[in-house]
Amino acid sequence: MEEKILVLDFGGQYNQLIARRVREHHVYAEIKPYNKITIDQIKAAGYTGIIFTGGPNSVYDEASPHYDPDILNAGIPVLGICYGAQLMAYMAGGVVASADNSSEYGKTVFYTQESALFREIPRQSVCWMSHTDFIQTPPPAFRVIAHTDKCPCAAMCDESRKLYAVQFHPEVTHTEFGKQMLRNFLYEICGCKGAWKMEDFVERSVQMYREKLAGKKVLLALSGGVDSSVAAVLLHKAIGKNLICVFVDHGLLRKGEGDFVEKTFREGFDMNLIRVNGEERFLSKLAGVTEPEKKRKIIGEEFIRVFEAEAKKLGKINVLVQGTIYPDVIESGAGDASTIKSHHNVGGLPDVIAFDEILEPLRDLFKDEVREVGTQLGIPHELVWRQPFPGPGLAVRVIGEITKEKLDTLREADAIFREELEKGQVGSNQYFAVLTDLRSVGVMGDARTYGRTVALRAVTTDDFMTAEWTRLPYEVLERASSRITNEVQGISRVVYDITSKPPATVEWE
Ligand code: XMP
Repeated sequence: MEEKILVLDFGGQYNQLIARRVREHHVYAEIKPYNKITIDQIKAAGYTGIIFTGGPNSVYDEASPHYDPDILNAGIPVLGICYGAQLMAYMAGGVVASADNSSEYGKTVFYTQESALFREIPRQSVCWMSHTDFIQTPPPAFRVIAHTDKCPCAAMCDESRKLYAVQFHPEVTHTEFGKQMLRNFLYEICGCKGAWKMEDFVERSVQMYREKLAGKKVLLALSGGVDSSVAAVLLHKAIGKNLICVFVDHGLLRKGEGDFVEKTFREGFDMNLIRVNGEERFLSKLAGVTEPEKKRKIIGEEFIRVFEAEAKKLGKINVLVQGTIYPDVIESGAGDASTIKSHHNVGGLPDVIAFDEILEPLRDLFKDEVREVGTQLGIPHELVWRQPFPGPGLAVRVIGEITKEKLDTLREADAIFREELEKGQVGSNQYFAVLTDLRSVGVMGDARTYGRTVALRAVTTDDFMTAEWTRLPYEVLERASSRITNEVQGISRVVYDITSKPPATVEWE
């Protein structure tokens, strides 16, 4: 039987991370909110193991999430984490208490005893704690297998029923041996063999959507970014030409990008692709606008209008697909799948067009997992590894008023910079050129020039929330500067942006 772990979600903040950690050990994991799956459904589904997640509550609160205690007797191994550990203690007849001086937060030294969960883990190591309540008395049949200086029961187990609980968070990297603990739970306790691969995610999704979407018309807004591209190819594999991708080219893309997207999907994947050339529309709306937020708003609204017009031409559409990935879900601060309506990538589309259903096939995946799926699907490397590109495109990289001429100038300078940087094989997470609104005096041949200034930006970052300017080699900057001033008409000066984020943002607008 296929191995799969149920992550039973009690509302904690690391739930997706738990599922991801399980997948890293090559075991399939799915997350279900505790109130969306019954004990009978759990038993029938044939899970290899269950993980109770953390949660923000206290088990004695009236409103706190609980589950049928009989789940502990279902013959399925369970690992309770944080709130999930306390819940297990409570369900099995132990005592959970709260004391001001018992709360622990952050890295904490803990001491373990012999147990399958702690196999190959030193008796003393560091874990990540975040709790006020604690297990004061473990339930009958349970034994304490770890403690800290403050917490008498940092972990417990009932080996006969394969029930394990940890007060700390093994899924975060601050827990030194957390990865090994999860591995022990999966391999030693649940008996998993670890045969799952990302390919299986692809196969499973394709199979599921093929059945679910049979005979339905499905629409997707393709931007050419990693997420929407992966979602598109995945759905295309499942339903072929019933997937209609609309690619709105707003004329604010980088050099050659629109054609590249079209070629990749139309020729490479033989997709049902509609490319809408909206350059004139967008530029006329943007004429004379200099304020960054206003530019964003205009582009967002116009995007919706263009997309809506295309959708209308297609008649009744059953399903809208969005390339939402897990970090977007966190950003929009939403927890429950059913409440998610719109997402910044497509600027609230579902509100203006009627669909029966919105589908987000990548919403449980992290960025690197999405890239892996993309690779499995045979999407070209340069697309899968594409750096982020803002929805409003070059409009936020042309400072001041946007004109076609300025956009073309920026496209050339940007292409040169990216080419030189790539040739130099410099590690940088995002790099681009900005066309500033500044003119300065120069000299070319014997003549005075009065051209524009291009700023180069390259940043090093993990998450784009904070970023450092990349220490580019002088030779790369030199070549880029020399080529841009020589090859791009109207540019007489090139500067390099040496500001980190904060205080600056990555984009200039
Ligand atoms: P900032 O400029 O906020 O950028 O430091 C952080 C990251 O987000 C990208 N970015 C955007 N992406 N729509 C997007 O889809 C936008 O309006 C937008 N603004 C910034 C930016 O390129 C960087 O990777």
